[in-house]
Amino acid sequence: MSNVRPESMARITTKELADKFIAEQVAEIRAQVGDKKVLLALSGGVDSSVVAALLIKAIGKQLICVHVNHGLMRKDESEEVIRIFRDGLDANLVYIDATDRFLGKLEGVSDPEKKRKIIGGEFIVVFDEEARKLTDVDFLAQGTIYPDIIESDGVKAHHNVGGLPEDMKFELVEPIKLLYKDEVRVVGKALGLPASMVDRQPFPGPGLGVRCLGAITRDRLHALREADAILREEFDICGLSQKVWQYFIAVPDMKSVGVKDGKRYEGWPAIIRAVNTTDAMTATIEEIPYAVLHKITDRITKEVEGINRVLLDLTPKPVGTIEWE
Ligand code: XMP
Repeated sequence: MSNVRPESMARITTKELADKFIAEQVAEIRAQVGDKKVLLALSGGVDSSVVAALLIKAIGKQLICVHVNHGLMRKDESEEVIRIFRDGLDANLVYIDATDRFLGKLEGVSDPEKKRKIIGGEFIVVFDEEARKLTDVDFLAQGTIYPDIIESDGVKAHHNVGGLPEDMKFELVEPIKLLYKDEVRVVGKALGLPASMVDRQPFPGPGLGVRCLGAITRDRLHALREADAILREEFDICGLSQKVWQYFIAVPDMKSVGVKDGKRYEGWPAIIRAVNTTDAMTATIEEIPYAVLHKITDRITKEVEGINRVLLDLTPKPVGTIEWE
């Protein structure tokens, strides 16, 4: 398959078209791979999840999925990957909890670019270590999608640190490289993946590492993860999760004075960011009803240890980027 999407290729918008695409890809993958093994880094994001489901359908246990938990996942995210792929699809899944390695390397590092480099670099080291334990793997599957190819300066291309060491030679398997994101979601649904996975909002590779601002500490990371889970839960309840492109919490490395249970309580603020965009290059602010904001504030300040204020970021992009870093 070439890297140019043929003019004649109809946009995959329905289950029927998705099923046809799946049948074609299953045949192509089988022809390419034969009885060899394929390795895939399964983050749990939409693209790698759909590639995993497609390959499992085509070659079953010849696919080895490696899920690296870098300790910067959202609440229950790794558990969901295990539940869907190992328990649900009977995947050959290697789960690596590398939380201590990542957080150890990140200790005391506050510069955003350094944090990104450490996370990206360590990811490759961990993945490489696992890959070397396996034998007879000739192929590497990747969740490359069409915008990754055409926008060489696109979000993923310039954000994600990619590439394995030079001496690891794999032939690539990239079954969704001609699809746009909306098509990947349709294919994912046709493959039976749950909406919670297929309709996920974008989540940066370095995960909560770009939202736990400054030098990451375990207690503040925990507070961020819990506050973020509450925000997502409340957006689900009021229907905003269907309307808002991306929403999350950022927690800066600063404290202010507050009062809790009649006592002085120094805590971090939780900052709500909820934006709409089509391409992430510019973004507008979603209006959140005050009643929802009050409920979220109430829950976060009561339920999350270490947080004593909730703030709302009203800055569009430009001038603010979507992430705080
Ligand atoms: P910014 O903060 O630059 O973010 O306005 C634009 C979009 O990119 C996402 N983002 C990333 N996506 N890997 C990704 O795949 C990354 O490292 C990364 N960093 C930011 C961000 O969440 C937003 O949707």
